[in-house]
This record gives sequence, structure tokens and C-alpha cells, in this order.
Amino acid sequence: MLMDHAMVMVSGTKIGEEIGTGRSEVWRLIQQLRSLGVEVDGHPATGYRLRSVPDLLLADVVEPLVKGTLFSPIQHYYKIGSTNEAAMEAAAAGAPEGSVFLAEEQTAGKGRGGNQWHSARSSGIYCSVVLRPNLPPSEALVLSLATGLAVHSAIRAIDPRMTPDLKWPNDVLLDGKKFCGILTEMNAEATRVRHVVIGIGINVNQQKFPEDLRETATSLLLASGSEWSRVELTAALLKSLDREYRDLLGVPDAHDKVLRRFSDASSYVRGRKVRIEENGGFEGLTEGLDARGFLQVRTAQGVRTVLSGTVRAL
Ligand code: BTN
Repeated sequence: MLMDHAMVMVSGTKIGEEIGTGRSEVWRLIQQLRSLGVEVDGHPATGYRLRSVPDLLLADVVEPLVKGTLFSPIQHYYKIGSTNEAAMEAAAAGAPEGSVFLAEEQTAGKGRGGNQWHSARSSGIYCSVVLRPNLPPSEALVLSLATGLAVHSAIRAIDPRMTPDLKWPNDVLLDGKKFCGILTEMNAEATRVRHVVIGIGINVNQQKFPEDLRETATSLLLASGSEWSRVELTAALLKSLDREYRDLLGVPDAHDKVLRRFSDASSYVRGRKVRIEENGGFEGLTEGLDARGFLQVRTAQGVRTVLSGTVRAL
């Protein structure tokens, strides 16, 4: 109701009637919305009005925009520990493929390698999806490389002037700084995936970052100079991810094509001097991806395969 009548004053009694409660409960709910950052003018005597239509990732808003894709149902949280945790628990309890978990804020956002993911309220996109691919676990890397490509094309679908870079395995960068991270978690048998959760964190409208991230993190706002609609970008992302996923499962050669497209879109895959933080660390020149999607690095001792380490440009 509020979304349809964003700019008119609506009395507390009328809102109460629509949702089957009284004026004082409406007042309490409005206060709660305000504490979550939704800008609502007015008070019980005057009625209420949304100051602007907020860019919230509400299921009712996002779902119609991704109709025809795999992605439904959508679950939206104002505040949650981690959407990946929620998605993993739901998947274990039988949530269908395509279930989406979106949050305005995470209090325990997870990054790769046990890191935290900075998840400030309503300035980023915190999104996890449940997939049940009929693939061996070894294909999960290609799936997460394909997710990086999906982020890349979603950004370019909205603003073709942007040219994000991909850093293996799945950071997405602008101006050499990271604005998107992907965390793929899996429940699998040795030869068969039960379910995969792909968690995508995108820094969208952050104006600044905490001291420790300032050197390495950016947002779309900082990189482009203007605000982005999180709703529009989330919809574009789910549509691109739907396309990548269907291709990967259904199109012959899709695996190799993902590796080729990833290499083409990334300045890191070939000829880049890097340091790998793995097994005590080593340095070398990147030399492409192997057939399974692992990064190859030429070192003084020969070519080494990066299995999981962090890649840093030198
Ligand atoms: C990385 O370290 O680069 C991966 C970051 C992944 C962050 C996203 S935000 C949505 C989802 N929920 C989480 O707790 N983590 C992922």
C-alpha cells in the first residue's frame, strides 16, 4: 500500500484497516520502519507519508522484475546475520532451487577465507541464492567464475561506460579497487552437489569506507560519481545470473566459454605479475586458466596452479 501511494498523506486508521490492526500499532510499526532507515513524514494526528520511495530490496518490488527467471521465492530482511547462512540453512531444510535471500544490512557478513564482509545498511546489495545443479563439485569453481561474469554484465547493462575488471577467482574491481565479492558455499557428496549457495556482496552507494578498507575497496557511487538504484541492479544481476546458469547446465561447450569470457574480461588472467597468498606465498606471472578454471602462475620453479589463495597484483 505504501509503495502505491508514496507521496500522499494516509491516516493511521486507514493504514490500520488495510493491515488489520489499530492506529497505535501503526504508529509503533512506523517508528520501527524509521529506525530501519525508511523516511516517513507525519504522526498519528496528521497521517503518514513516505518522503521518497525508498530503494529497498523488497520481495514485492524485485519479484516482478525477475519474472521468467529461476529466481523465486525472494525473502527480504531488514537486518540479518548473513544471507549466506540463511540460504544454507534454508537449502538444508529443502528450500527450492532459485530461492533468493536479500538483506538491507548484515551483522555478520561473511567473506572468503573467514574474512568479514562490510555490510552497511541499505548502501550495498547483500544477496544469496540457492542452486541445485546437477554437476560434480569440481564444477563449482566455474559456476562462481560465471557469477563474476553475471555481475560484470549486470553493471554494463545499466551503464555501458563502466568496465569492471575481474580478479580470479571472483572479485570484481573498478579503478583497481574491489566493489564486489562472491562467496560460494556448497553441500556436496564426493561426486554430486546437493546444493550450492552463491552469495554476492556489491558496494553500491557507499560514500566512504572504514579506515582499514579505504585503500582497497570502492563502490559504484565512488567509481561512477552518481547513485545507483539497488533495485534495478539486483534485478539485472538476477537476470544475468539466470542466463549464465542456464547456459552452464544446458549449452554444450558452456564451461569452456565461461573460462574464455572470464579470461577476456580480466586483466589478471594473463601476463600479470602477482603474489599468491597460499602455502607461504609465491610470486610469478599469470599464465591463463587450466581446464578446470584454476589460475596458472609461472614462477622461477615452473608453472604452479593456484587452488584457493588470494591473488595480489605486484
Ligand atoms: C569475498 O570475500 O570477496 C566474498 C564476499 C561475499 C559477501 C556476500 S554479501 C551476501 C552474502 N552473505 C554473506 O555473508 N556473504 C555473502
